[in-house]
Amino acid sequence: MAMAADKPDWAFPVTDKVQPSNVVPDDGKPKSAPGSSKSYTRAQVDDLFNAPDWFPDIHPPMPTIVANGHAPNVRACGSCHLPTGTGHDESAYVAGQPVAYFIRQVEDYKSGARKGSGSMATIAQNITAEEIKVAAEYFASVKPRTWVRVVETDTVPKTYVGPGNKRLTLPGGGNEPLGRRIIQIPEDEEIVLNRDPRKGFVAYVPKGSIAAGEVLVTTGGNGKTVQCTICHGATLQGLADIPPLAGRTANYIVRQLFMFQSGERAGSHSPLMAQAVQNLTIDDMLNIAAYVTSREP
Ligand code: HEC
Ligand code: HEC
Repeated sequence: MAMAADKPDWAFPVTDKVQPSNVVPDDGKPKSAPGSSKSYTRAQVDDLFNAPDWFPDIHPPMPTIVANGHAPNVRACGSCHLPTGTGHDESAYVAGQPVAYFIRQVEDYKSGARKGSGSMATIAQNITAEEIKVAAEYFASVKPRTWVRVVETDTVPKTYVGPGNKRLTLPGGGNEPLGRRIIQIPEDEEIVLNRDPRKGFVAYVPKGSIAAGEVLVTTGGNGKTVQCTICHGATLQGLADIPPLAGRTANYIVRQLFMFQSGERAGSHSPLMAQAVQNLTIDDMLNIAAYVTSREP
């Protein structure tokens, strides 16, 4: 394995110990969403054993494990990954994933071969094999949808990381240089905090990163890596039990490339990724993520 690169903190958001003092606290009132007959308070939205279901018509009926989990240790998949499987920046976009791939990931979290999420480790250690299968089949059946808008830029709004490892815009913070980072924030904070699947995220990426990523992904960059399309499919929408990459959240992609390289993701099938990641720099991972996230999911 190549020398492990320094961990890119921007891709691994962790709740800031000191929260900004000027964030307006929630008023506790029920929220609504245009076009939805539902209403939930923020406390109900954040009940991780009862995923809010604002728009039941845009996804198949949720099985119990997805909607409610199984108390006390298996939280509802739909809370963090949303009933649409599109997830948030800090979790994962699981809609349309192959069943065998999905099941393998939960097993890898259980054995500890895959790290990166304490929540997933606890869930994996307590979920039954039947529940994993039911959840995998549900998310495999959910049609992927466009969720992240990729924008090349030099400057971004200043952000902070709020509760639940969620990156949000700093009120009154103005802008700052992006530098060599990806900053992914909600298109609409209220909608995302309500776990409402109407709107997703915008990923700000450095200028030129999409084109640089395209070269690596489609050609391998003169031996620097391996053409990703060979295994992940010509449109990066997955092939057999190899997962789709197109349109997934950008920082999630960086985290996975980093963890395959560092050995924190070392499941039975991770050796297939070894050659692809061994010589990548953090900057290469950033470029690759900018490109694959910009593709149609
Ligand atoms: C508290 C939030 C939370 C809940 C609840 C949750 N997950 Fe996750 N899930 C995560 C996070 C965080 C990750 C990993 C993100 C990373 O590695 O960057 C993840 C990753 C995954 C992955 C890997 C996706 C991939 O592309 O490889 C699978 C599969 C998964 N979760 C299944 C489930 C199932 C099944 C449930 C319900 C039983 C569930 N999750 C509930 C937060 C959650
Ligand atoms: C030889 C086949 C192969 C090649 C080439 C390959 N991959 Fe993969 N990739 C896989 C397999 C297999 C997995 C699933 C590993 C597992 O099940 O744990 C995977 C998983 C991933 C994941 C994790 C997806 C998720 O949802 O967590 C990412 C990200 C990824 N690959 C990116 C890439 C990129 C970028 C390239 C090109 C630079 C690439 N891969 C080239 C086989 C390949």
